[in-house]
Amino acid sequence: MNDTICFRNIGQLVQVDATSQPPRLKISDGRALIVKNGRVEKVLKGSGLKSSNYSKVIDLKGKTVIPGLVDCHTHLIYAGERKSEMECRLSGSSYLDILQSGGGILNTVNATREADEKSLLKTAKARMRRMVALGTTAFEIKSGYGLDLDTEKKILSVGSRLKKELSVPVTLTYLGAHAVPDGSTRSEYFDFIMEHLPQFRDLADGVDIFCEEDVFSVKDLKRLFLHAKLVGFTQLRAHVEELSYQGGCAEAARLGAVSCDHLEYANPRDIRAMKHGDTVAVLMPGVTFFLGGEKIPLVHSMLDAGVTLALATDCNPGSSPTYNMQTVLNLACHLYRITPEQALVAATYGSAKALEGHKEYGSLQPGQRADFLTLKTKDYRDLFYYFGENFVDQTFIQGNPVRIPKNPAIE
Ligand code: NIG
Ligand code: FE
Repeated sequence: MNDTICFRNIGQLVQVDATSQPPRLKISDGRALIVKNGRVEKVLKGSGLKSSNYSKVIDLKGKTVIPGLVDCHTHLIYAGERKSEMECRLSGSSYLDILQSGGGILNTVNATREADEKSLLKTAKARMRRMVALGTTAFEIKSGYGLDLDTEKKILSVGSRLKKELSVPVTLTYLGAHAVPDGSTRSEYFDFIMEHLPQFRDLADGVDIFCEEDVFSVKDLKRLFLHAKLVGFTQLRAHVEELSYQGGCAEAARLGAVSCDHLEYANPRDIRAMKHGDTVAVLMPGVTFFLGGEKIPLVHSMLDAGVTLALATDCNPGSSPTYNMQTVLNLACHLYRITPEQALVAATYGSAKALEGHKEYGSLQPGQRADFLTLKTKDYRDLFYYFGENFVDQTFIQGNPVRIPKNPAIE
């Protein structure tokens, strides 16, 4: 029993019961969590446990335990920042105006092209460590700040090094279709993406596209997805119906997208398409908050229709500069008027499903990775009640406490 750890004396143990429809939280008191070889083996009642059965017994002293949070949509590998653009937006410019005038995503593209792989790795690793300390235990990371072959590959190479160096699940997504680079027309650049797509097959798990007015069209989305399927990508994702209605959501769901992301302008027809395609709706309230958007997705219609919801930071320097999934949970509850239970299920099981990882992590059920958080509170609902707090006491990855340097850089 050398590799079996008993976490005893848990106050509130929160797991996800994904077998119920819709998936629900399962909350129990006074349990012990048994972790073998980094996975949950079982949950035992009471604290009368025979310590000789375990290699280690850890007394959690009545703390709350919840599954690690899953951040299924991030752009966390980039250089630079965009505080001046924030000031422009706060003085009346729109996000898309800034992009059309050569700033926005293109601003970050210039900085990221100039940065070498070593410095990108250093800043991205510091960001991820901060995110883990704040409770994230599985990640999706997109490219999309290169828009040329070398830089897109450099970003994905940093992503695969992060995957190797930090022992957390990381899903990589090729987002060449994020914006049209300076010096190309949309159709020239899109043809370039299509031509070179096979080169990215071994570098990323999936593809994504920003389908938006004056960026990429629904027709582009369709072409990209059909080609990506032929090339062998199985995870298709799309930024759709974020700043206007384009119709990309229904098309993406029809073509088998694993997730449709943003969805502020999605309508009941899109919701039916997501339900029909078993496509996860990834919602990012941090973007609504930071861009001052007034449009709230039809979250209750999605729940009523039985669409799986997921939550993510969208961590990026332009529309959501946050590393904190706890903030996202809190915003989701209060901007969308959903319950703590609905939000927490979305940020664990739902986000894991968006990454096709829900068998492996996200619910803290026997057989899954023992990725969990102890909280500095006796009631998980404090995450949703108090805002601006950090309730994570300790992050555990595969049953091991993660030691985070005291002040990882905020960059
Ligand atoms: O998800 N919408 C497009 N892409 C990102 C923003 C990226 C940026 O502004 O740098 C998003 O919001
Ligand atoms: Fe995004």
